[in-house]
Amino acid sequence: MAYYKLIRSYNQSSNNKPANLIRKEFLDYFSKDLKHSIIRSSPVSPIADQTLAFINAGMNQFKGIFLDYYEPPVTKVVNSQKCIRVGGKHNDLSVVGNDSYHHTFFEMLGNWSFGDYFKEDACTYAWNLLTNVYGIPEECLYVTYFGGNEKLGMGPDLECKNIWLKLGLPECKVLPFGIRENFWEMGVSGPCGPCTEIHVDYMKRSTNQAARVNKGYADLMELWNIVFIQYERLANGCIVPLPKHHVDTGMGLERLVTFLQGKKSNYDTDLFQPLFDAIQKHSNAPKYKGTFSDDDTGKIDYGYRILADHARMVTVALADNMLPEQHQKLRRILRNAIDVGEKIFKKPGIVTELACTVADNLGAAYPELCHNLKQVQRIIDFEEDLFKRLRNTSGKKWNKMVEVRPELASITDWMASGLVDGYKELQSMLKELHKTNVLPGSVAFKLYDTYGLNSETIAELAQVESLHFDQIDFEKQLDNCRYQSRIGLDKCSILTKESLRILEENHVSKTNDSFKYNYIYNGSNYEFPALNSKLIGIIINGELVINRNDSKTTKINNVNNRKAININEMLNSTNEIGIILDKTVCYSLEGGQVSDKGNICIKNLLFNIDSVRKVNGYVIHSGHFAKTDLL
Ligand code: SER
Repeated sequence: MAYYKLIRSYNQSSNNKPANLIRKEFLDYFSKDLKHSIIRSSPVSPIADQTLAFINAGMNQFKGIFLDYYEPPVTKVVNSQKCIRVGGKHNDLSVVGNDSYHHTFFEMLGNWSFGDYFKEDACTYAWNLLTNVYGIPEECLYVTYFGGNEKLGMGPDLECKNIWLKLGLPECKVLPFGIRENFWEMGVSGPCGPCTEIHVDYMKRSTNQAARVNKGYADLMELWNIVFIQYERLANGCIVPLPKHHVDTGMGLERLVTFLQGKKSNYDTDLFQPLFDAIQKHSNAPKYKGTFSDDDTGKIDYGYRILADHARMVTVALADNMLPEQHQKLRRILRNAIDVGEKIFKKPGIVTELACTVADNLGAAYPELCHNLKQVQRIIDFEEDLFKRLRNTSGKKWNKMVEVRPELASITDWMASGLVDGYKELQSMLKELHKTNVLPGSVAFKLYDTYGLNSETIAELAQVESLHFDQIDFEKQLDNCRYQSRIGLDKCSILTKESLRILEENHVSKTNDSFKYNYIYNGSNYEFPALNSKLIGIIINGELVINRNDSKTTKINNVNNRKAININEMLNSTNEIGIILDKTVCYSLEGGQVSDKGNICIKNLLFNIDSVRKVNGYVIHSGHFAKTDLL
């Protein structure tokens, strides 16, 4: 194979290679030598994926290709993706700063085949890059492959194992692992497949270290994950083969640079050192020594790591137009950085300064960091100011509460604006709640919805009060609320969930509102020709009555055999009445646009429309019947 023999004239002594060159070499290798198209990093803010708070892997932007939603314009792609992991299954935020390799922001290098090359080429490309281009000694590398799983009815991925053996790896370094380590799934359903990982021994030991692979040692870690997307997990749990096979790979740039620069910690590389220099320059603190836990007196080194890590994450997220106001995790990380800047380095404003260093350091790869730097710095300044003011107001109130109840000191997000009032409300319910010792979903939802507390803070409050937080029930309520908001039910007080259920269970057709575009503009007004519609239903005093009569009379029957509508009751009602028609000329309140006004003539009655809302396709005209205007 030509590409296997291919050894470019790279500088083999990699110790002095800056991170920017290492990233560039990765992109060059796949784009120039192997004809992959370079795709720029997507922003870290997910565009159309509600399942993610931040982009957390290179594959996020290609999800639609794997799911066969669209055809890719090219079949071989390479990228360096900005990723953020701040909790969930991928990263425990509490370890960031305490070890040498967990970060809130990192870069993922990846090459991709969309129905193009598969296992043999993917492994060969990776092996060649690491050993020949980057010059990593073969004895430092170990590989893992999928060892099979009885439950899935799958045997070991021997094809993969044999590829590695063919590439020259000794059998003792080609290690089988189970589903947890070597079978990659995007979610509960969707494309999936076995993966093979390349691990690297940072200590460069010549003796076989296979026993340390996948055991959580910081000196022997996974470097590159190569996923063979060849199956789909269906919603019923079955795994079926996919017609097209794809390759999805991800290598953490920070880990690669650490190895290539001969370091033991990611923080010792040139991805972090310029930030440490800037912190030192601005604060006059003692220099970074690289110590951890008990050796780290005064937690100065920890402070350096947190500040540098968080400054990268915050700068990248803000440069991609995320706002702390809308992303509480982002705000929390920023406040944590500001706090460390003040408490450990006695330097207010330091995060704003560091944004500049981040842009200098990463701007060549991600130009938006430089273009948006001024805006990034303005937001950080604004947030720092807000943070200070909050500390002087709600922070003081909270401190008083902590004096009375010292256990509350464990609440991480003590700046949350609704915390004081939310906790007071919780306190008023404690007697009742302690009967079962459960914090039910409904109470948690109130803390979330009314007081703006996030689920982590709610869980912490539950712990302080020795209550079991029913997170599943809470998530259910949250999902229900999200659903209502998605279909517009939350904005239409007149239509209840029950009424919507009746409409849907009776297969009542949705309103055709395309006539709202059927207007003539006479220079100052929009004129709509009158439209004859069929009356579908009326909502009165909170009850929906469906019109079952196909002839266009207004005889209205009640689907649930409740009393028939009394015309006098309708005319005299001071409550808002809702009218649903099969078609309408009215524009509903949507996306900031105010709804139309108008009237509906039903036989000899005139209905004045005050507002129009759309819920899951049903247009609800709300208003009142004109009492005296009988036609
Ligand atoms: N999707 C895999 C991962 O995130 C490989 O890119 O590790």
